[in-house]
Parts: sequence; C-alpha cells; structure tokens
Amino acid sequence: MHTSTSIDEGHDLKRVDEKNHQEALCFNNISVKFGDYTAVLNTSFSVKAGEFVSVVGPTGCGKSTLLNIAAGLLNPSEGEIKIFGMPLDGGMSNQVGYLFQSEALMPWRTAIENIMVGLQYRKVNKDQATTLANHWLARVGLTGHGHRYPHQLSGGMRKRVSLAQTMILDPKIILMDEPFSALDVQTRQLMENELLDLWSADKKSIMFITHDLEEAIALSDRVIVLSAGPETHPIAEFVIDLPRPRDMFEVRVTEQYIEYHKQIWAAMKKEVLKAYQYSKKGDSHD
Ligand SMILES: Nc1ncnc2c1ncn2[C@@H]1O[C@H](COP(=O)(O)OP(=O)(O)OP(=O)(O)O)[C@@H](O)[C@H]1O
Ligand SMILES: [Mg+2]
Repeated sequence: MHTSTSIDEGHDLKRVDEKNHQEALCFNNISVKFGDYTAVLNTSFSVKAGEFVSVVGPTGCGKSTLLNIAAGLLNPSEGEIKIFGMPLDGGMSNQVGYLFQSEALMPWRTAIENIMVGLQYRKVNKDQATTLANHWLARVGLTGHGHRYPHQLSGGMRKRVSLAQTMILDPKIILMDEPFSALDVQTRQLMENELLDLWSADKKSIMFITHDLEEAIALSDRVIVLSAGPETHPIAEFVIDLPRPRDMFEVRVTEQYIEYHKQIWAAMKKEVLKAYQYSKKGDSHD
C-alpha cells in the first residue's frame, strides 16, 4: 500500500538531473551553516510539477530554513536550488509564491487592496488588477468582504485573503510554512479543504511545511520526514496513496490513513524525542 524509502545523504545527482524536466523544485545537496552550527546537511529532494509534498520534522530541525532557501530569502552554504531545472541564484523567482505562518497582510489596506498588492508591484493596470482581485476574493469565499480591513476579519478570513494574495500572481510553485497553525481545528480543516480545491483546479506544485503529521498525511501526495537538528537531513519519505478528492474531515478516520500515521510516526518519533532532549539540555548555538 505504501512506499517508504530511506534517503542516502547526497543521493544520486545524475538521476536527479535526468528527471529535471518534470521537477518543479529541486533541493540539490543543500547544506546550511549559521556560524559553527550546521543546521542542514547534504539535503536533496524535489517536488514534481503538480505534486503536493509535505515536509515534517521536529521543532527547530530546519523546516523554515529549507523553505527560506527555496524562496531565495536565504543562500545555502553549499548546494543549489533549481526551479523547473534552472538554478535559483540570488533572489526570488516569480514562479514561486509564499504563504507564511505569520500574518502578512497590510493593516492599512482593505482585503481587496491586499489581494491586489502583488499585481500593483508588477505594474498591472488598476482596472485589470481590480477585476482579478474580485475574482480571487470570490474564489476564496469572501465575496462581500472586500472592503473590510484585516482587523475586521476573522483569523480564517485573513488566511483566505493571504491565500488569494498568493494565488492571484499565478505562481507555479507555492511554498507554505505552517500556514494554518494559528487557526482553530475546524477552521483549519475548512482551509485545508479549500487549499486542496484550489490546488487541484490549478495544478500547482506545493511544498508544505508542518510539524503536524496528521495535516501532512491528509493533504499530501508525499511526506518527507526530516531528522532532528543539528545536521538535519531527510530520513524517510512516504508516498500517500489515499484517493482524491479528499475531505479533510473524513480522510482522517479511514483505515488507510491510520496505517500511514502509524508508519510515519514510527519514523519520526525518535527524532522528536531527540529534539526534545536537545532542547532540555539547553544547548544553544547562539
Ligand atoms: N538566522 C539564523 N541564525 C542562527 N541560527 C538560526 C537562524 N535561523 C535558524 N537558525 C537555527 O537553525 C535551526 C533550524 O531553525 P528553523 O527555524 O529552520 O527550524 P524549524 O524546523 O522551522 O522550527 P519550528 O518547527 O519551531 O518552526 C534552529 O536551531 C535555529 O535556531
Ligand atoms: Mg519553522
């Protein structure tokens, strides 16, 4: 039923290159050092075109670091990122969109103005930007709320505005760092359903970072498990062969899902405990 693969550090690069045409995002032997501290070591994995991949790992292991590298916000100490086979050197790619954990909306702009901010940076004319922003407002279920400011919206609504703000630029790849972790469980599952709807309609590639194994399994085509830090690297990956379309409320009670959970947790547990022991020792690299 499932496929689990151990990943050797620095795995076969030639094979990776041959597959480049179908790889949207590729981490090629990435290492990251912060001073003497090696946060990430020799990490290679990829996200195929149209694929939904979650990366899970214990707190502090380097998930956000990897995402920041893919976003072009941080340079790796070694290795390279490829976006559709092209090296990402210096700066961001306009094929890539981001959704971060923290609120990124501008409080002085209404929902509709927030949604169209990226188009304005790209110098799209105002009428066109407004039309597209209204289209996205509707697609994220916020028709009638466009005139509201962020403080007049609920947390879930603000997340939808952020999602529309990202999607309106039509990125081929979306990087998400625990985007729904601040939401209550029900709102979170609704948002996950909406994300899957948008993803399946537009065939984006998604790299989804989370420490929540349940969320990762329910959403993804593939789950990559990272080791605890320092020298974080992938230790296993699982193909999630649950049928689609999936409903976030229902998928979690299926036997197949529960089986995946057991297997992936078995791979993750040791790393979570290691991270916990490490944090209790009070080790710090600062
Ligand atoms: N700019 C930085 N300077 C020094 N150390 C850093 C920096 N950014 C991250 N680190 C360290 O690198 C490690 C990985 O951090 P990162 O934020 O990527 O972890 P994470 O897996 O996203 O954690 P969480 O699950 O808590 O969000 C941590 O030990 C962190 O302290
Ligand atoms: Mg993080």
